[in-house]
Amino acid sequence: MTMVVYGVLMLWCAIVGLAMRPGVMEDQTPLRSSSSAANSSSYDYADALEKAILFLEGQRSGQLPSNQRVTWRADSALSDGKLQNLDLTGGYYDAGDNVKFGWPMSFTVTLLSWANIEYQTQKQTDQNLQSAIRWGTDFILKAHTSPTTLFTQIGDGNADHQCWERPEDMDTPRTLYKIDSSSPGTEAAAESAAALAAASIAFKKTDPAYSSTLLTHSKSLLDFADKYRGSYSLSCPFYCSYSGYQDELLWAASWLYKATGESQYLNYITSNQGWSHAVNEFSWDNKFIGAQTILTQEFYEGKNELGKFKSDAESFVCAVMPGSSSQQIKTTPGGLLYTRDSSNLQYTTSSTMVLFIFSKILSRNNVSGIQCGFSHFTAPQIRDFAKTQVDYILGKNPMSMSYMVGFGSNYPKKLHHRGSSIPSIKDQQGKVGCSDGMSNYYNSPNPNPNTHVGAIVGGPDSNDHFGDERSDYSHSEPTTYINAAFVGSVAALLAE
Ligand SMILES: *[C@@H]1O[C@H](CO)[C@@H](O)[C@H](O)[C@H]1NC(C)=O
Ligand SMILES: *[C@@H]1O[C@H](CO)[C@@H](O)[C@H](O)[C@H]1NC(C)=O
Repeated sequence: MTMVVYGVLMLWCAIVGLAMRPGVMEDQTPLRSSSSAANSSSYDYADALEKAILFLEGQRSGQLPSNQRVTWRADSALSDGKLQNLDLTGGYYDAGDNVKFGWPMSFTVTLLSWANIEYQTQKQTDQNLQSAIRWGTDFILKAHTSPTTLFTQIGDGNADHQCWERPEDMDTPRTLYKIDSSSPGTEAAAESAAALAAASIAFKKTDPAYSSTLLTHSKSLLDFADKYRGSYSLSCPFYCSYSGYQDELLWAASWLYKATGESQYLNYITSNQGWSHAVNEFSWDNKFIGAQTILTQEFYEGKNELGKFKSDAESFVCAVMPGSSSQQIKTTPGGLLYTRDSSNLQYTTSSTMVLFIFSKILSRNNVSGIQCGFSHFTAPQIRDFAKTQVDYILGKNPMSMSYMVGFGSNYPKKLHHRGSSIPSIKDQQGKVGCSDGMSNYYNSPNPNPNTHVGAIVGGPDSNDHFGDERSDYSHSEPTTYINAAFVGSVAALLAE
């Protein structure tokens, strides 16, 4: 078992389009028909929301607080930043590994903030959500060390991915990666600007001083992103920019416009509206539909110059709604939106969150619906379809399986997740090194010892099948941004 082989095996990637795994469907028991799983009663969405937020506590890096509820985790990566005499502790491990990737981390924070802004739920749940947001924003603030310097990744991705270690034991290089005026990375800087602007709205009432700090950094980051343009490539091959940076610039400007109402941001958006185009996915890479959705609301509030964004947003809805004559994204036989076979639930949850918010915008503005070629969809129809996606993830699917760990009784037991798959450091204090983790835990046929409650995995394949294999990262690995978009989706069901 050479490390080289593992390096290839475990080159975990959320990279779009990679990791096709042909042939895994052979010799499986036949699927149950979807009608036998039909179940019209609804799930405990409050429980699902709480768990989706709880997952983020298990992804925390740095020194854990005394009110930490995920107790199989402990402090980790306490020296992050020391290589340059900085404190860059904190933030999130983005998936089943121990790297802090700032770009998707910021996207996670933007989505969590959007959820918190759009939907009020129970007081305690909303507070937990704000704690989850703050765990990310505190790190982004630390990482923004000068107006034109942002640390965007902590940890050598290749070294990390060749090891199977708990975060608490991790001993691979904590290399620091940064963008600045001579080596810019517009996607990462602009997404951080979006995250801080969105969070500034979320904290406006609960912590005005913090909110205003967030806003100051957000403005500075968008200036940096826009003035020093260059595509962000430091986190490639793990997170590569395919859609360019124009989406992030529009997304950040939209959030800053929403946060401040300042005309400079509206002018920026309208003068760059040629960047906007219709898309059929929403992801850590491609945020056009996020910006278009925010700007659709602004259009209905009287900003007629934003009509192009509204029409692009409608095209997205038409591209994902079943029955639309311009449908581009198909559903599985069991009814799941299926974008691609690589952590597909990230696209399902993000599309679902957008559909809920778009539906809310139509209702709030008394718009009868949207026209997609020959088909017409009302706000309730869009919302009803979005609800089917939440229900599918929670168990209404051909395998009668919840794709959220710890929800119901039938859920993934072998997450592709280092910390979850190795006994807690509180139960087994001796160090589990790089290759011991591989042989004893990565390759173990046993369920993970730590139930990572709330984790939503990459999900089933295009035939609604899920094999629950730890090595199958495309389907068995959770990520923070899947959960963040699910938070926005399930909160929509609770809030209305
Ligand atoms: C339907 O879903 C509810 C909520 O999860 C569950 O309690 C119930 O057992 C399900 N019923 C069937 C027949 O699957
Ligand atoms: C929508 O309709 C309701 C009921 O007629 C009305 O009270 C409300 O002001 C309308 N909202 C908008 C944005 O037009």
